[in-house]
Amino acid sequence: MKRIAVLTSGGDSAGMNPTLKSIVEESRRDNISVTGFLRGYLGLVKGMAIEMYYKTVSGAARRGGTLLKTSRFPEFEKVLIQKQAAAVLQKNGIDGLIVIGGDGSLHGAMALELIGVPVVAIPASIDNDIYGTDIALGVDTSLNTIVRSIDSIKDTASSHGRAFVIETMGRSSGYLALVGAMATGAEALIIPEVQYDIKGIAGRLKNEHERGREYSIIVVAEGTGATAEMSDALKTISKFDTRVTVLGHLQRGGSPTVFDRMLGFRLGAQAVKTLLDGISGVMVGLVGNRIAITSFREVLAHKKILGERYVEYAKRLAC
Ligand code: ADP
Ligand code: F6P
Repeated sequence: MKRIAVLTSGGDSAGMNPTLKSIVEESRRDNISVTGFLRGYLGLVKGMAIEMYYKTVSGAARRGGTLLKTSRFPEFEKVLIQKQAAAVLQKNGIDGLIVIGGDGSLHGAMALELIGVPVVAIPASIDNDIYGTDIALGVDTSLNTIVRSIDSIKDTASSHGRAFVIETMGRSSGYLALVGAMATGAEALIIPEVQYDIKGIAGRLKNEHERGREYSIIVVAEGTGATAEMSDALKTISKFDTRVTVLGHLQRGGSPTVFDRMLGFRLGAQAVKTLLDGISGVMVGLVGNRIAITSFREVLAHKKILGERYVEYAKRLAC
């Protein structure tokens, strides 16, 4: 291999930049050139290429977001468009591609592999919903932001004796909400993976309030769509002075934590090594703190599920 390419796709997450730094440095050390495609699959199809040198990734370890930019590009589901992308890669003399992104981006990566492009993927999504890795890039940074935010809200909640419904991100996964709730000792939790009883929660919190609890924190995963209903139930059933905070996109930004930087360095280097070893159609992840290489087919055939203890914890807070 003489030249590889890399792109970041889908929702950005902290850790993408340290990964790009690792990919460029690892490749350049082996005299392999690196092309970066801007704006994910959109930029790949349009040939929006930049040459990546050591200088391009200087200072990248501490920066959130992605220096290659990203996009949502639904047209990439069409085989005709995927073939255009393969032609761009061929025209640019690219021998292999590294895709950094979430579940959707992995589908795109597998589609390219199926039409003959050697691809290795790196899981990056704050939702932590990708099978084949214990943790994806950006999850740790996002959780640290969530925990800091909930801690801050607790200060004002306790001062006023209020209930706060706090909505975290997570398109169809409750991982961020669950770990955020665990780490801050929230009183209630609503996630899509576990059956919940909104009226039951409101009644329980009312009882706890009558027994002396001064304030309550209820964490809700975005994917349940239950934020407003939970807030209304707290107002009508518990008669709490209730506020809602939607944490939103601030959960996606920010300087990567040490964990996300190290994860990016490890997965980036491994992705390059894997391509150079002639292996493709795989995702490099982390299982039990060891690098794990899993085929796209296997990754995409499985839904990542929450561990048993996590589910038990969530069930206790969901009624
Ligand atoms: P994420 O990768 O963070 O899950 P998306 O679900 O938006 O984000 O997916 C990112 C991009 O991956 C999409 O905009 C599209 O370009 C591509 N993609 C998603 N699903 C498919 C698919 N089934 N086939 C081909 N490409 C896909
Ligand atoms: O997939 C990551 C994620 O941040 C989800 O948690 C969230 O639902 C979605 O992306 C938000 O997407 P957008 O950036 O397009 O608003």
